Amino acid sequence: MRTVLVLNGPNLNLLGSREPGIYGSATLADVERMCHEEAGGLGLKADFRQSNHEGQLIDWIQEAGLEWTAGRLLGAVLNPGALTHTSLALFDAITATGLPVVELHISNVHAREEVRRHSFVSPAARGIVIGFGVAGYPLAIRGLYDAVRYDEALPTSAIESGS
Ligand code: DQA
Repeated sequence: MRTVLVLNGPNLNLLGSREPGIYGSATLADVERMCHEEAGGLGLKADFRQSNHEGQLIDWIQEAGLEWTAGRLLGAVLNPGALTHTSLALFDAITATGLPVVELHISNVHAREEVRRHSFVSPAARGIVIGFGVAGYPLAIRGLYDAVRYDEALPTSAIESGS
């Protein structure tokens, strides 16, 4: 059974109490349950994590790259929190490993402050889910699953050339 990694960055441990008008009232534990349920329905196992530390997220992405190369990991759903808007290192970790990543934001970052419109992660992402609240997590898992199956069905040359 392949695993899908779900990574959450800074302050997402505060979901439920953090600005509920923007992020809703579900807690991170609720989100974790949703992810296990969605992954289970697709025949996957969810590995759900949160850290407030950039380096920890990078270490996890590097480890995930090895698991992905070994064929044990499908890819990752990543909500980088505010690191989205600041971290070239997260971009580098994703591109260095080749790990398929779906970037996820609970809120519609494009409808908020200007600074949230730029993402360092987006150019390295296989897909992006934005603005569906915590319902975006199962959507992102499903999207990652479909995208990876699509990629795996293509001849290698088509993936490398991006066509
Ligand atoms: C967020 C959006 C970011 O701008 C913010 O810093 C977060 C959460 C979201 O899920 O909507 O921490 O990634």
